[in-house]
Amino acid sequence: MVDPRLAPTPPMGFNTWNRFGIEIDERLMTETIAAICEEGLRDLGYIYVNLDDGWMAPERDALGRLVPDPQRFPHGIGPLADAAHKAGLKLGIYSDCGHRTCKGLPASYGHEREDAQAFAAWGVDFLKYDWCHVPFEDFPGRTHAEVAQILYGRIEAAVAAAGRPMLLSMCNWGDGEPWRWGRGLAHMWRTTDDIVDAYRRETSGWSGDLSTIFRLNAVLDEFAGPGGWNDPDMLEIGNGGMTTTEYQTQFSLWCLMAAPLLIGTDLRAMSEDTRRILTNRELIAIDQDPLGRQAVLADDRDGICLLTKPLAGGDVAVGLFNERDAAAAYAIDWRRIAPTAAREVLARDLWTGEQRRVRGREDCPVLPHETRVWRLSAALD
Ligand code: GAL
Repeated sequence: MVDPRLAPTPPMGFNTWNRFGIEIDERLMTETIAAICEEGLRDLGYIYVNLDDGWMAPERDALGRLVPDPQRFPHGIGPLADAAHKAGLKLGIYSDCGHRTCKGLPASYGHEREDAQAFAAWGVDFLKYDWCHVPFEDFPGRTHAEVAQILYGRIEAAVAAAGRPMLLSMCNWGDGEPWRWGRGLAHMWRTTDDIVDAYRRETSGWSGDLSTIFRLNAVLDEFAGPGGWNDPDMLEIGNGGMTTTEYQTQFSLWCLMAAPLLIGTDLRAMSEDTRRILTNRELIAIDQDPLGRQAVLADDRDGICLLTKPLAGGDVAVGLFNERDAAAAYAIDWRRIAPTAAREVLARDLWTGEQRRVRGREDCPVLPHETRVWRLSAALD
């Protein structure tokens, strides 16, 4: 059983994959650690700095140990973990259930114990564990869900035995519905294929665009909660494939869905818009709310989605997402979704900062692909 106290709220940080793929090295990591601190992101809660696929050398060493790529990480992983810790951050690493990672590098099948020990010895705090090249033939008659439970169980036990607390991120793309059995084996579980940096893609492929991923994850609200979170994959904000409105939508929807917030862009070169989105404190507070509830898709008609997320202390977050390509308006019945006993309700728009008293129903305009978010609270007088 993983320790649920490692993820009382959805994990936040940075991961190399979406922006850099396997083009990663220790300089990128060191500069990212510096940027997270300088940009004030650490103090907003983005504390994990995570390596994804590509950090390891093409083969294990003569003793069977997993080794960092000597060109890209000449000083190894330990010093990076030390640098992260010195900066008040935590270091994440990546491996895979199978013989090889998705990029064909050595992975942990049959080496779970020694790899977990190496990660612990290096000072690693977070392990993303992928699902490529799994030898299903070794598990005749077993379903994918059963094999996943065996292999994620093995790494969970190996990490526990290694003795260093590590947040476990299960990355099996929703195969076998991990939201039904992932709690206890990991602190977060991917619910979908990989996200691509596009709002909507006409061709269907292995990976999913923003609106597809949102729809797959939005209906899984009952499975998220403190200690274990649905993971609709990482943020694409800042990577260039979507408009600012669409990136605001990703951030809004991810916060409403209590998703892990793993930044996937180059933090050394953020635009003003990217910075503004990723540092929206009030949205982050919705994601990190201690009650730990994922928003419910309360209404879903003609491409307009209404999401409501109860918050600790009785407030409610409300999201209005216009999935369509044309501007729209939706009549929100504030009193129906407001904090129950309140006679009058304050609605604070978390993107504009505008705050007003609301009552009854009101037509709320919403731009194409936009998501508006309000925080409702009881008006005190
Ligand atoms: C995929 C995973 C991605 C990334 C990639 C690395 O399976 O879903 O998030 O880790 O592998 O090769």
